[in-house]
Amino acid sequence: MSNQPWWQTTVVYQIYPRSFQDTTGNGIGDLPGITSRLDYLADILGVGAIWISPFYKSPMADFGYDVADYTSVDPMFGTMNDFDELLEGVHRRGMKLIIDWVPNHSSTEHPWFIESRSSRDNPKRDWYTWRDPKPDGSPPNNWISAFSGPAWNLDEETGQYYLCTFTKEQADLNWRNPEVQEAMFEDLRFWLDRGVDGIRIDVAHFIMKDPQLRDNPRRATKAKSITRDHGEYDMYEHLYDKGHPDNHVVHRDVRALLDSYQPERFSVGEIHIADLEEWSSYYGDLDELHFPFNFSLMYAPWTAAGIGEKVNAAEEVVPPGGWPSYVLGNHDEPRIATRFGEEQMPLAAMLLLTLRGQPTLYYGDEIAIPQRYIPSAEQQDPHGQKLEEAGRDGCRTPMQWDDSFQAGFSPPGADAPWLPLSDDWAGRNVARQLDDPQSLLNLYRALLAYRKSSPALQAGDYRQIEAPEGCLAYQRDNLTVALNFTDGDIELSLAGEVGVTTYLDDAATPGRLRPHEGLIIET
Ligand code: NOJ
Repeated sequence: MSNQPWWQTTVVYQIYPRSFQDTTGNGIGDLPGITSRLDYLADILGVGAIWISPFYKSPMADFGYDVADYTSVDPMFGTMNDFDELLEGVHRRGMKLIIDWVPNHSSTEHPWFIESRSSRDNPKRDWYTWRDPKPDGSPPNNWISAFSGPAWNLDEETGQYYLCTFTKEQADLNWRNPEVQEAMFEDLRFWLDRGVDGIRIDVAHFIMKDPQLRDNPRRATKAKSITRDHGEYDMYEHLYDKGHPDNHVVHRDVRALLDSYQPERFSVGEIHIADLEEWSSYYGDLDELHFPFNFSLMYAPWTAAGIGEKVNAAEEVVPPGGWPSYVLGNHDEPRIATRFGEEQMPLAAMLLLTLRGQPTLYYGDEIAIPQRYIPSAEQQDPHGQKLEEAGRDGCRTPMQWDDSFQAGFSPPGADAPWLPLSDDWAGRNVARQLDDPQSLLNLYRALLAYRKSSPALQAGDYRQIEAPEGCLAYQRDNLTVALNFTDGDIELSLAGEVGVTTYLDDAATPGRLRPHEGLIIET
């Protein structure tokens, strides 16, 4: 096979730890729960790496993205020993472990912030961004939180505002102070020294802001978000509160830190930037992120032309030697089964697993867990409490393992799960789909196995080829992938052997695509 680094050939599976497997019976998933499901991930499903959303000590204002101690495990999720066992279990199965790194902000309960807040002259005051109110008492500038409302919160005691781009319990760290970078890097080394294989960097382009904290210009009309609607936030041109060129300096330093490790460590950045040139600048000269997540397929029109255009655009801007990536679902976006429609799920699976680049799967999408509607008043997600349609509880419901008590998510007799299961769990779960030879789960298994043994899918070039309307077709070396986005038959003039059909039957032929069928054809 090729000598590509693991992060180019591996398929990553994202786990939202609260929602994957509860072993203690408190209705919340935990690290031993993930360990107990490693055989599923490695042998049954066949992914090569897992990325776990934050499990660090946290008051859970943003469910772990408010970190109170970067080198700890929250007791809710287990102990450091549990983490070590998980890591050992992952490595024993030949898999890799990626953890979440949240550099933009800490919890306001982090000891650094507690010190920083304690007085204006505390040595850690400058570890966060503090400013005086305007003369009328209002916030220092017009920046607003990604979760609505001002991005500033007033500390009554010291009479200043601190910057908080997400919830007021998440204070933005001041990366212009070298002590902050030093402390954050030390905490990062803690995990790299322990043996984690990579990091997913939370809001990687938010870290550095305009040093003058200038007001963002207000837009005449709302920007079209590349993901879900962010309400008032999308009414601004975010020139100054994120995306400062100095972010690149930070990412070069992070890369140098990662590169100082053997074996090789990896980083993927969460970068939501619609302008693809700017987005791709985070590859640097291949000395910044290994790659930014590419979210552009998430909200592209779900048509052959719409998806083809986004893939071509991404292929064009990824620098030579750089590696693309694709994501369809994650813990922030509505479930793909609901967004695209369930009948599209097999096609989505084949698309994601046959493009050039690293695919990241979101837990539960392999069985098409649907989005659960949860009204704003019942949402636990801070964003959903402010803006119902932006709420993220609905895509974080517990994993559906079987038709036993609470879908096998919690042990018998456990408390109710932290979020309700999706309505259809009794009929839609891993056990049920393993028994059905034509289930979506079995398609994922087939595609993952095929990809693992296919140099063309792992390393081959990508080239879109002519196809009838409604069909997206592309070549990966000796393979042709043809995807029918319509609900009618499409005649094809292709020849070769069918490697995989999304129908998982024997009736597929390279001369015709059935409705919503995808084919891998060996030419
Ligand atoms: C992006 C994460 O994916 C999201 O879940 C979180 O709320 C924000 N960053 C803030 O950390």
